[in-house]
Amino acid sequence: MTTLETIPFADLRQLHAGLEARFASVWDEVCRTSSFIGGPYVDAFEAEWAAYVGTDHAVGLANGTDAIALALTALGIGPGDEVLVPANTFIATAEAVAMAGARPRFVDVDATSLLVTPENCAPALSPRTAAVIVVHLYGHVADMTAMTAFARQHGLALIEDAAQAHGATWEGRRVGTFGAVGAFSFYPGKNLGAFGDAGAVVTNDAAVAAKIRSLSNHGRSDEDRYVHPHRGVNSRLDSLQAGVLSIKLSMLDSWTESRRQVAACYREALAGLGLRPPEPGPDSGSVWHLYVVRVAERERVRALLARSGVETGIHYPVPCHRQAAFADLPVEDLPAAEAAAATVLSLPFHPGLTRGSVERVADVLRDALDSHGD
Ligand SMILES: Cc1ncc(COP(=O)(O)O)c(C=O)c1O
Repeated sequence: MTTLETIPFADLRQLHAGLEARFASVWDEVCRTSSFIGGPYVDAFEAEWAAYVGTDHAVGLANGTDAIALALTALGIGPGDEVLVPANTFIATAEAVAMAGARPRFVDVDATSLLVTPENCAPALSPRTAAVIVVHLYGHVADMTAMTAFARQHGLALIEDAAQAHGATWEGRRVGTFGAVGAFSFYPGKNLGAFGDAGAVVTNDAAVAAKIRSLSNHGRSDEDRYVHPHRGVNSRLDSLQAGVLSIKLSMLDSWTESRRQVAACYREALAGLGLRPPEPGPDSGSVWHLYVVRVAERERVRALLARSGVETGIHYPVPCHRQAAFADLPVEDLPAAEAAAATVLSLPFHPGLTRGSVERVADVLRDALDSHGD
């Protein structure tokens, strides 16, 4: 009997192959200069990231959660304010609102795209609503024409959580540039990932960038290291991470192109199976962070896939408004987010996934769906 190789959910080792010498040179340079936090690698990456996204400023931070929290604080949003947050997101989006001292107000998502829309946000508006966070989940892009109009109409600050959408576009313009601030995570598994935790904000507002920079560095003043005009936190970007990110940024567009090709392979291989993957609309340039399908009998199908060596993930099994962490908030009835949480299944997905692996996943999935009732 031949044992088939496991198809891993992601494969960072393959992604990094061939870049080792460049990574090692960053390590050597940091050892040589002892410039561990901030410094030339951080300055360079911030400039490159701002140029890539298309904003005047980027501020490197310790992670993507802080990026959202510090963006809110810098925009003056805090205690007494409510922030609209789609319930179908990673918990960090909501956590960041709480970290800023504000209250998340969870809203439903569109049943097809699984992303936030103005129609979902409107019923949750209250006199306390100060901001809306648009999450470009799975690398897909929310309708930014509609969401920016909605935010403007209701006088809300708009923040983009682009933690899963590095380089994605709406009508040709990169995400992160539509709201007051765009927030990115560079967690290792993201489309652009560091060798540990890292994040950044982007903005065209110099004052907001300066405030976030200060907040992330103990609220320091520019002039004097031990003068603290703001009550800040420690959320700075390390030199090693910035050096790695610059190297990986030079590869990002080709990795994104590969992701798009793998997604196209999946679309073809899974056609006719009724798996309803959320698909990007015609105006959006998705960067396909994940390949998500929807399966009614998810646990049974997932177990069969695992038995055949196909690794999968679930993003996310419990919607934010049903998490114990937010049990103090009024429970909302958000049917699309709940249906998504019950059925979404993320298939193996990374830029190096071969057509053969995609076809094997599709075959196993077809058999698993056909074996219903056995
Ligand atoms: C949608 C979303 N928002 C926020 C975050 C938080 O980023 P980090 O893990 O870097 O804090 C993540 C990633 O983990 C995410 O996927």
